[in-house]
Amino acid sequence: MTEPLVESAVWRRLQWHRGEVGSLHLRDLFESDPTRGERLTAEAAGLYLDYSKHRVTDDTLQLLRRLATERGLPEKVRAMFRGEAVNTSEGRPALHVALRMPRSRSLVVDGTDVVKEVHSELDRMSAFAEQVRSGEWRGATGRRIAAVVNIGIGGSDLGPAMAYEALEVYASRELAARFVSNVDPSDLAGALVGLEPAETLFVVVSKTMSTIETIENARAAREWVSAALGSDADLTPHFVGVAGNLEAGERIGIPPEQMFRMWNWVGGRTSLCSAVGLSLLVTLGDEHFRALLGGFHAMDDHFATAALGGNLPVISGLLAVWYRNFMGAETTAVVPYSHALRVLPAYLQQLWMESNGKSVTTAGEPAEVESGSVLWGGPGTNAQHAFFQLLHQGTSIVPVDLIGFARPAGGAAGRHDLLAANLFAQAQALAFGRTEEELDDAGAAEETISHRVMPGNRPSSVLLAERLTPATLGALLALYEHSVFSQAAIWEINPFDQWGVELGKELASRIAPELAKGWKHELLHDSSTNTLIRRYRTLRDA
Ligand code: F6P
Repeated sequence: MTEPLVESAVWRRLQWHRGEVGSLHLRDLFESDPTRGERLTAEAAGLYLDYSKHRVTDDTLQLLRRLATERGLPEKVRAMFRGEAVNTSEGRPALHVALRMPRSRSLVVDGTDVVKEVHSELDRMSAFAEQVRSGEWRGATGRRIAAVVNIGIGGSDLGPAMAYEALEVYASRELAARFVSNVDPSDLAGALVGLEPAETLFVVVSKTMSTIETIENARAAREWVSAALGSDADLTPHFVGVAGNLEAGERIGIPPEQMFRMWNWVGGRTSLCSAVGLSLLVTLGDEHFRALLGGFHAMDDHFATAALGGNLPVISGLLAVWYRNFMGAETTAVVPYSHALRVLPAYLQQLWMESNGKSVTTAGEPAEVESGSVLWGGPGTNAQHAFFQLLHQGTSIVPVDLIGFARPAGGAAGRHDLLAANLFAQAQALAFGRTEEELDDAGAAEETISHRVMPGNRPSSVLLAERLTPATLGALLALYEHSVFSQAAIWEINPFDQWGVELGKELASRIAPELAKGWKHELLHDSSTNTLIRRYRTLRDA
């Protein structure tokens, strides 16, 4: 049995070492090693990672790699890729990596070649997408499909919604794409504005097909089509679905032959490459969707085979552990310098926080150390004019990932250079800051100097790629998936379950009928909930 994490020699050594590093400034680290900015870099699957502006020395990195080895990260990676039941609390594999393995590969799990199954479903999806794109698939009145509306929530929404925004320049101009997730009726209403019911295809996505938001939105969408086409119209061509069980679509009127499959070994937050990506496949087309899978797979291969020292997801994961457990960082920020990636922080929030927001180990024991940090962020340069003040001069340490591209996704190249200049400048300002002396030399008014001093020593990674393509996006997302996995491996938590979301759902289903007009029974909640419910009813019914 492995000894407790906090008692291991390497953990203790890291704690002691933190004291050494705590007194070092990035200015000194760069001054004492002029090659640092070239050395502390790594590259894979079209992504270049500069991690030189982190508060680490070569000793820190070596100790973190030792930690990873001693806590069994390489074995855990192999177990995941082999299809072992790494999702221990649910007793199943987490095989999102199989979703993007090329056709030539084979991965047999419990006697089934899952890669074969994946490709047969992908082929079904591609064939359907082609029918829609070519106009062969028509609505009830014979009109061509002109809009695809994805209905789903969490992992059944964030991936396709984020990737569509990111890759919109690759999408068909003939098809509008909309994404509906919230049970707030204004979400669906807003998404349907300007759409023609006779030309709209809904893709209803829910692994469990029991998520109340999705079921209710799918029903409302049905009513919207039916109200326009008449109650006698056959609405079947307007709805396809994605679920763990093909029969599950019948609950919302979708026949099994119009359902696409996701396996129980695919978690919602890592499901973009499964049929959950159907709306993306329809709007982007087969070639671009497969290129996205190719990018994911290139990073998967890198993660599975590269040595720890040059392994991008491992470096990212170990740095996250370093800041969380040794440098006291409670949050992590992600700032893509690409407007097309503006939804990325929301997507990563689910991946990062639903995966590693745990306080129990895989053995069911209380976690020994702090686990997942809070992830947040927004697109640059907008974020600079919003929350960067805190990153530069606040009292908390927030490691930041700055993501940029050498060429624009669309628009003029000139302004794109300005975008990149801002990214590089922010990383520089965060790391090196501005001293009192520098301000003095620049003639700053004496009384403003203490306010204007920039302490620097604020850590950031820069991820740079040539262009935001389907393949680059795939590699980037896989990098974060595996970074999350690497962190969980050190903390010995299960990143693949999410029991913490259950209680709220249960309570909501108990409260929902109590809000209905005419509910006569006594409210038996705590006094706060009872009062809120009463106040809500009064306000609503006034
Ligand atoms: O409530 C959390 C969650 O279970 C996520 O993990 C999942 O991505 C989302 O809900 C949607 O679930 P489903 O695809 O089953 O509707």
